[in-house]
Amino acid sequence: MLNVQNIKNDFPIFKHYPELVYLDNAATSHKPQVVIDALVDFYARQNANVHRGVYELSELASQAYDLARQKVADFLVARSNKEIIFTKGTTEALNLIAQAYAQSNLSRGDEVLVADFEHHSNFLPWQAVCQKTGAVLKLLQSNELGLITDEELQSKLTTKTKIVALAHASNVLGTINDLKKIAKTVHQSGAVLVVDGAQAIPHLSVNVQDLDCDFYAFSGHKMLAPMGIGALYVKEEILSEMQPYQLGGGMIESVALQETIWANYPEKFEAGTPNVAGALALATAIDYLKQISLESIRKHEIKLSQYLLATLKSIGKVKLLGEAPAEMRTGLVSFMVEGIHAHDLSDYLAKNNLALRAGFHCAMPLHQSRQCGATLRASYYLYNTQEDLEILLANLAKAVSYYG
Ligand code: ALA
Repeated sequence: MLNVQNIKNDFPIFKHYPELVYLDNAATSHKPQVVIDALVDFYARQNANVHRGVYELSELASQAYDLARQKVADFLVARSNKEIIFTKGTTEALNLIAQAYAQSNLSRGDEVLVADFEHHSNFLPWQAVCQKTGAVLKLLQSNELGLITDEELQSKLTTKTKIVALAHASNVLGTINDLKKIAKTVHQSGAVLVVDGAQAIPHLSVNVQDLDCDFYAFSGHKMLAPMGIGALYVKEEILSEMQPYQLGGGMIESVALQETIWANYPEKFEAGTPNVAGALALATAIDYLKQISLESIRKHEIKLSQYLLATLKSIGKVKLLGEAPAEMRTGLVSFMVEGIHAHDLSDYLAKNNLALRAGFHCAMPLHQSRQCGATLRASYYLYNTQEDLEILLANLAKAVSYYG
């Protein structure tokens, strides 16, 4: 069982805002002091550019950066640290795939499949690359629970499907998709599977070899690391064929007027000075999560989801968006209250120290396909307690009687 009070003490934000009930972890998580220290320590004690100098500081910074890459590779159970590209986050990673892989592998008439619940980050890059190449973007409809069923996938896959891009877990429905099964079906049809792991990796143990996905993108900032750092896993046989999409320093072997030779991957995909401090802090966040144990965090979140799903219904006029049970969700529930706009509710809650996101959550196609308006989303993590949810419910009840 998690000792939530001890965990909370590791997060300085709660010392500065003792009354804060933070239920917006799907947008970003808070950072423990060790992660903040890792950032500060890099600039205070280690700061130098990486892979560019032979002086001691630069070599130490390079070693620390390489070690951070190895920690990410181990965290994802990748075969090799060469399969890990550091990025700004999930959005940059997905754009990288669309431009460095899809653009040269799609032709007119090919098909790309995305789910109706995709975050815009896993929708817009595909829409744009399809427009450029003449490929066709098609939508997989999730069921009531928020799952892409095998029947749905089989019915949309054709011989023209080249790429299937799916969120491991939806940022609105919370539902965790069975990627292992999906990857098998996708590969049988000859396509590749791109996974947006932004909402899954803070909550689940991810093993990219076991899932057998071809690409896995995630952000650090939702899993206790700073904003502006994330990573992309690419299966080595695919990565070795990919060409860089950003050009500049640090990604070449040699440059001459007529010919340039790229560096090996992953450096080939990391043009410019990387976010070394961010990578080190991401590695620290991974160590912190491992030390607490993702399994315990998962159990804790399931309990919170069970409580919230059972009690939300007691508030009249509440309608859930996504019916998945607690065990099939990450740590979030989205809902609406009939007759009251989600922004009015979030405004009322904010005045009472509750931080929740309201709106379309960067997933407009989902709200269109489910024909619903804005929703309110409660998303919790390792430092949230049942008491936080009790405060939410009490204030929701008050808001409903205030606006209702
Ligand atoms: N993608 C983040 C969210 O769902 C920002 O809120």
